[in-house]
Amino acid sequence: MNKFTISEEDFSSFKNLIYRESGICFNVINKVILESRIEISMKENDIENIKDFYVFISEDKSNLYSFLDKITTNLTKFFRAESHFQVLKDVFLPKLLKDKSNFKIKIWSAGCSTGEEPYSIAITCLETFGMTEKNFHIFASDISLKSLIQAREGRYSKEKMDNVPASYLSKYFDKTSDGSYLVKSFLKKLITFDFHNLMHTGTQNGMDIIFCKNVLIYFDSISQKLTVNRFYDILNDGGYLFMGHTESLFGMDTKFNFNNINGAIVYSKN
Ligand SMILES: C[S@@+](CC[C@H](N)C(=O)[O-])C[C@H]1O[C@@H](n2cnc3c(N)ncnc32)[C@H](O)[C@@H]1O
Repeated sequence: MNKFTISEEDFSSFKNLIYRESGICFNVINKVILESRIEISMKENDIENIKDFYVFISEDKSNLYSFLDKITTNLTKFFRAESHFQVLKDVFLPKLLKDKSNFKIKIWSAGCSTGEEPYSIAITCLETFGMTEKNFHIFASDISLKSLIQAREGRYSKEKMDNVPASYLSKYFDKTSDGSYLVKSFLKKLITFDFHNLMHTGTQNGMDIIFCKNVLIYFDSISQKLTVNRFYDILNDGGYLFMGHTESLFGMDTKFNFNNINGAIVYSKN
């Protein structure tokens, strides 16, 4: 069987369309991944010609977003990079709680994938001394509609729960008859899930904390800078930005301050 490949010209058209819409960058190294996703999507939509497929996704936003769902990497887990959650509980939340005693702390999980990150944040808030649901709200968004549906449902297989401390399991999840775990409704109510493309401006503002972890690694430096500057504008003074362990603002011309607290790298707006 012949391997499915696309010409340089077609690769360039798809690459540019994806970049314009999502900030996600493909290059010669990951061309083969893109080809395989295109092949799957063409089969699913019963389209045989690559140029017809390009028209199919470029002329209809819902087709484009279904395709983007195929090319995003949605890998995530509960309490990913535990030091972030530790420093959130021990340092940042107590400080914000004191500073904002009359207001709710607003937290945004940008690129929340299937929901493990915002649920971990919500649990951390409830486990922080003195904090109740009255003190905070979490906004969680992603470009992947499929991931958002899963996030809203909040159902996770047993394997996905490996990183969740045993004491949290019965407190925050219901075990179902098929062995999976369902997030309890009081926890779900603390989070508003919504579609949001980081390449577009949104309605978010006045955030105290932004988690944008393992998202910007898929962007090129121009889109990274645009997004990070937007985060700066959206954050309140004294707010914090958490990024993935392999991501860094080093070398980027931003107004954020760098903090290393017990090994957790966090950026702040002072
Ligand atoms: C690897 S997951 C990271 C999930 C979570 N933040 C974590 O660290 O575990 C990356 C997520 O970013 C989302 N994403 C990629 N490009 C995006 C964009 N332009 N706007 C919003 N979300 C995007 C993907 O759909 C995916 O769910």
